[in-house]
Amino acid sequence: MSHDAVAAADHTMRHWTGNDPGHIKIGSDAHKRLFCRMLLDTHNPYKPAVIEWPALTADALHRITSLPIWDIAVQTEGKAKLRVATYTNTVSDPLLHEALTMDGDEEARHKVVLSKMVAAYGIELAPEPEYEVPKDPEWGWLVTGYSECIDSFFAFGLFESAKRTGYFPSELVETFEPVMQEEARHILFFANWVAWYRKQLPWWRRPAFELKVMRVWLFLIWERIGIAKGLDGNGEMQDANFTLTGHEQIGLDLKISELLDLCLAQDSFRMGGYDERLLRPTFVPRMARLARRFLK
Ligand SMILES: [Fe+2]
Ligand SMILES: [Fe+2]
Repeated sequence: MSHDAVAAADHTMRHWTGNDPGHIKIGSDAHKRLFCRMLLDTHNPYKPAVIEWPALTADALHRITSLPIWDIAVQTEGKAKLRVATYTNTVSDPLLHEALTMDGDEEARHKVVLSKMVAAYGIELAPEPEYEVPKDPEWGWLVTGYSECIDSFFAFGLFESAKRTGYFPSELVETFEPVMQEEARHILFFANWVAWYRKQLPWWRRPAFELKVMRVWLFLIWERIGIAKGLDGNGEMQDANFTLTGHEQIGLDLKISELLDLCLAQDSFRMGGYDERLLRPTFVPRMARLARRFLK
């Protein structure tokens, strides 16, 4: 792609407004079209195979290769890809199917980007576990969606901080920037899907769905806090704790309150370019604002 084409694709993936004007009722067909089209129309067609991995100074190379995040990053994308694809197979609505397929393909592409980078810089990875096909496809999709809502929120702030301090070399910032924005699109899509899906369900199925959502949250909290309480000792567990201690691990001199401010600002910035009629993921930002009140 030429430089102009790359810049155009980058702009397209960050700005989008639906064609049909007027009010959109959450849960309606028009709402479904809006969030599906958002994801489909903002797809950035970059090819991981042609990314040139810049030569890094010895210092930068050491910082990058010793980051404790690569195992969990590769495995998270591997799981996400499988979970999204498994759920996609159960969806008969053509437009939703198409959007979910794109979402899953983008997760697969993230994994390719990471694998290429790992190979280019000689990062050693732990062997990947076998990814299990979820027995309940909807559970797998909800786990991926909500965990992205948590992890992306913190990743936005950490990424920005690593960028500002130069911890992350600027050539790599450019390469990973579209991946970050893709996660922003994914959680925007997911938040709207959940709201739409709830309204679609007949009343008698809603309690079971809400119960499942609560179980997903408990699972995700257990996965993160349980790990923080010292289940470490094997690499994967330590890695999964990264969102909580990431700023310390990458040696950023940043107070938690500053990190939260950065996450909140980046979150609104990344969501800012999309149709205002789409709902924004609010739960994690709300928790962050709450925590922020108790932190100096
Ligand atoms: Fe991803
Ligand atoms: Fe994602």
